[in-house]
Amino acid sequence: MNILIVGSGGREHAFAWKIVQSPLCQKLFVAPGNAGTAQLATNLSIGVNDFEAIAAAVLENSISLVIVGPEEPLVRGIRDYFESREDLKKVLVLGPDSKGAQLEGSKDFSKNFMAKNQIPTAASRTFVKETLEEGLQYIAEQQFPLVLKADGLAAGKGVIIAANAEEAQSTLREMLVDAKFGDASHKVVIEEYLHGIELSVFVLTDGEHYHILPEAKDYKRIGEGDTGPNTGGMGAVSPVPFYDDAFQKKVEERIVRPTMNGLKAEGIRYVGFIFIGLMNVKGDPYVIEYNCRMGDPETEVVLPRIDSDLLVILKAAAEGKLKYVNFAVSNKTALTTVVVAGGYPGDYGKGDVIQVPEKQNYTTIFHAGTKHSEAGEVVTNGGRVLAVTALGTSITEARQRSQTAAAAVQYEGKYFRRDIGLDLL
Ligand code: AMP
Ligand code: GLY
Repeated sequence: MNILIVGSGGREHAFAWKIVQSPLCQKLFVAPGNAGTAQLATNLSIGVNDFEAIAAAVLENSISLVIVGPEEPLVRGIRDYFESREDLKKVLVLGPDSKGAQLEGSKDFSKNFMAKNQIPTAASRTFVKETLEEGLQYIAEQQFPLVLKADGLAAGKGVIIAANAEEAQSTLREMLVDAKFGDASHKVVIEEYLHGIELSVFVLTDGEHYHILPEAKDYKRIGEGDTGPNTGGMGAVSPVPFYDDAFQKKVEERIVRPTMNGLKAEGIRYVGFIFIGLMNVKGDPYVIEYNCRMGDPETEVVLPRIDSDLLVILKAAAEGKLKYVNFAVSNKTALTTVVVAGGYPGDYGKGDVIQVPEKQNYTTIFHAGTKHSEAGEVVTNGGRVLAVTALGTSITEARQRSQTAAAAVQYEGKYFRRDIGLDLL
């Protein structure tokens, strides 16, 4: 079958890398892709939100499965668009419709959803411009730190952790009155700060059945020791040692099953990935957020641990036949180190020539923000440039391999964290 992956990050390169290993895969396309996906697939120069151009490419290239990587096209309704067109109805799409994608697209929706379904999460209230005064008063009565979240998609920047009431109140004003995050902050969720360790759990569902994929821990801050501003993710590890049988059971019983049942109760046939961001609070899981897609860089450690034919699994999920497939998961540890552009997550340059090291055993270099220059060189084209994944029999071994390869990458202003996985040892 011919397949299209929508997106251009390390996540999409990892999907492409795994999918081309399947005998089922005939032609693979990525829109728009990066310099890494270009080595495995045909990149199509189409933006992820240009549904008409995506549809035209699907018809022209006889594509029968579309895998949607990032959240934005899902929240904007790429699945709904395909379902609405008679000539595209037979094309399988892996990713929820816009209603399902509200789990990520609206924090207010997801908080209400969790409340309705008794899914453990931080206590919260939602405010709009008209209820600003109430919001300011509410803040005055809270404990700190306090978390303020823009309701809509804000490219990972919409969460502010305020240290005291003054900061929380001025943030609330900026979000609601000055539209700090544009339309995304016309509603603001204010929630209690949870103390604990984070981890991410991924569920693949065909709308009826589900399968829980390997978990991962992400390193969100730019600086070593989890310091400095938040990023899209600076590294990831899978498996996570504290995700033991007892914790897994709590996650499935208290969170995954009620989420599936809740979606059905809303009349949502959710086809795709649900990424559940969790906080382990003294051994009990709480949901920090839902995402309607796989994580990046988590995908770069989750997929290398799946030994089964991923394309068979993804096709089955898109067809509603997930219960018929087998999942074999490797007990190896996967660790990825993200190599970023100097200045990221603030302003950074693009177009620097990258020297990617030679392929080493147990190591795979996934491209994120890269492209081919007109001269044919691989150059930087984003904040997160490469995700260097290694497998090992322990965190220590995987970490050493990943770090060695990350150190061998060369370009102007390169930076990476040297402490990925260290906290888990
Ligand atoms: P989100 O975009 O919801 O994932 O939030 C970004 C990051 O903010 C999370 O990965 C957490 O590190 C942090 N965060 C969000 N909500 C909370 C919370 N209620 N308590 C503590 N940290 C939080
Ligand atoms: N690494 C976090 C995310 O993909 O949202």
